[in-house]
Amino acid sequence: MPKAELHMHVEGSLEPELMFALAARNGMTVPFPDVESLRRAYVFNNLQEFLDVYHAGTLVLRVEQDFHDMAWAYLQRAAADNVLHAEIFFDTQTHTGHGLSAEVVINGLHRACIDAQSKLGISAALILCFLRHLSEAQAFEALEQALPLRDKLVGVGLASSEQGHPPEKFARVFARARALGFRLVAHAGEEGPPAYIWSALDVLKVERIDHGVQAMRDRNLVERLIKSRVPLTVCPLSNLKLRVFPTLARHNLGAMLEVGLAATVNSDDPAYFGGYINENFTQTFAALGLSAQHAYQLAHNSFAASFIDVSARRALQDRLAEVFETFE
Ligand code: ADE
Ligand code: ZN
Repeated sequence: MPKAELHMHVEGSLEPELMFALAARNGMTVPFPDVESLRRAYVFNNLQEFLDVYHAGTLVLRVEQDFHDMAWAYLQRAAADNVLHAEIFFDTQTHTGHGLSAEVVINGLHRACIDAQSKLGISAALILCFLRHLSEAQAFEALEQALPLRDKLVGVGLASSEQGHPPEKFARVFARARALGFRLVAHAGEEGPPAYIWSALDVLKVERIDHGVQAMRDRNLVERLIKSRVPLTVCPLSNLKLRVFPTLARHNLGAMLEVGLAATVNSDDPAYFGGYINENFTQTFAALGLSAQHAYQLAHNSFAASFIDVSARRALQDRLAEVFETFE
């Protein structure tokens, strides 16, 4: 099924094999004897435990080519899953914290996006995520550092440790990004309360909510999200691995679709959570007993929620409709 992927962190697509290869190329070591033992360490009780491991993995990224190769590996996997358009999250703050420039990060990722168009025939766009556990001043600094590369970015987002870091902490940064013409998204309601979704909408004025699964606890919020057609980029395997839901059978994706929320399915950090986008679809559909109509709705939502221009979006939605006509 053709689809868009709108919620994945490129640093979270760094597979152990590539991590070891980049470490060797950069004269570094990974603190695990081999790929298998590293993969076995990917067991998490919550978001923070994951973020600590994820951060350690980014240490092998040192030069522009590393960022290109990581993004290119993801884009090839995405194309194999029939992703026709990807909006890729990355954060510069992790890497500038390791002594790299924002330019190295963005140029490497952007080159992979260009390659995706020319070699794979799919489109890709970049979204810079601010790290919410860091300060407002540091987010402003990250925004300023990215401005010379403005043309290589479609938007900004908000990621990292959610609890204790409400969206409103970044009200002024998002206002500035909005004035500069960036599209706006934010993680909210992954582990954090519905109040964080309200403030992402009302204070940050975001156009999509990343995760948003906690919205279902607040009926007024659900009504608001439905009325204003705000998309939610849901990541079922992430929610399972970070214990937001005890099992996939208890996930609320089916309930979200039934009430009319504009949900989409995404992989978040596929190298760490055990599956790319199609694996997210197949495991969740099996666990929840969802139908072909649900699949069509999710893929249609993914194009509708994307930041591609209207004519390109219509062409992608036509391709989706064709596939379903054949399927029926
Ligand atoms: N960074 C990478 N993955 C994330 C997630 N699931 N939530 C918040 N920040 C992230
Ligand atoms: Zn995420």
